[in-house]
Amino acid sequence: MPSMQTNVAPSFRKTTETFAAGAKGLSQHYFVSPEIFSEEQKKIFSRQWVLVGHQSQIAQAGDYLTAEVAGESLIIVRDKRGAIHGFYNVCRHRGSRLIENRSGQSAAIQCPYHAWTYALDGRLIGAPHMDEVLGFDKADYSLHAVNLSMWEGFIFVNLADSPAPLAEWFKPLAGKFSRWNLSTLRSAKRIEYDVRANWKLIFENYSECYHCGGVHPELSKISPYDSAENDLTEGPFLGGFMRIAKGKSLTMSGNACALAMEQFGEEDFRLVFYYSIFPNMLLSLHPDYVMVHQLFPQSPERTLIFCDWFFNPEAFKRNDFDPDDAVEFWDMVNRQDWHVCELSQQGISSRAYEPGPYSARESIPAAWDREYLRFMK
Ligand code: FES
Ligand code: FE
Repeated sequence: MPSMQTNVAPSFRKTTETFAAGAKGLSQHYFVSPEIFSEEQKKIFSRQWVLVGHQSQIAQAGDYLTAEVAGESLIIVRDKRGAIHGFYNVCRHRGSRLIENRSGQSAAIQCPYHAWTYALDGRLIGAPHMDEVLGFDKADYSLHAVNLSMWEGFIFVNLADSPAPLAEWFKPLAGKFSRWNLSTLRSAKRIEYDVRANWKLIFENYSECYHCGGVHPELSKISPYDSAENDLTEGPFLGGFMRIAKGKSLTMSGNACALAMEQFGEEDFRLVFYYSIFPNMLLSLHPDYVMVHQLFPQSPERTLIFCDWFFNPEAFKRNDFDPDDAVEFWDMVNRQDWHVCELSQQGISSRAYEPGPYSARESIPAAWDREYLRFMK
């Protein structure tokens, strides 16, 4: 395992190093306009790869989850051979929604209306009385599939007709997170947050720690707000690391809460990595756990956020496993963040709002805005 010095340090930059004056926040209509919101749904969420879960969350045959992407309800399901499929949640008979739950387990997918039944791989296998219809062939009525692909165990969907492969999209990150073995992780906990703020405010908030001293006193004690260094500074993947005080962990108790993700060197235990992945994933890599936020914009002023805490699968078997120590810590920090995002939303909605200048410690939110605007062209 290479040490941190040889592995990453040379390419990281202090957030304050290079920052041209002049970058400002986005103007008001980006946060309040229903037209902008539907444009985002069309140009971003209907065309890009969107995170909907992790393979460990549908570990057994028949496990499913549903997700809403750009107004479309989707079913993500594992079939009997272990393959993961994505389907539109739309019956091929008269269009009924098939599954209402957000997750569950089922041997097949049966429509609640007239009981047409689909196998876990989407084939129509039962359609009462349809044999009385001349020429009807079940083979013509499989569920409509949605593009689905995996990256490091995370499940992404794409509503575009023929999107560029997910592997291509993630090429710039190839091997970057291999030390965390992301595909093997297991989630111990999910918390859902309904935040009264525009989804872009959540990204901008995640991308800087200018606010940390005041908003996150507990976090700042363990991880100094001015210790940020970034290695991804332009494009759809942005972020870097912050330092953790020696012997500490980002938990309520301040102690490690689980078996480490990997045989890290001493220096690696002192770092937490934060990356935003356009357009709906926040990836936070700690020495003892990985936290992932999925963002689902509901309206200009409202965002649904699913936060999952993942651990080394070996950690679950041990007595020292205390996931709540991490969950409670970040639940507190999350709520502190959502509160200021909601305050931002309220102020930005005012007639008095005009975009203010970003500080030198907000180079990543400024880069995120630039990337967002590229997608909105
Ligand atoms: Fe699904 Fe009729 S709408 S079986
Ligand atoms: Fe924060």
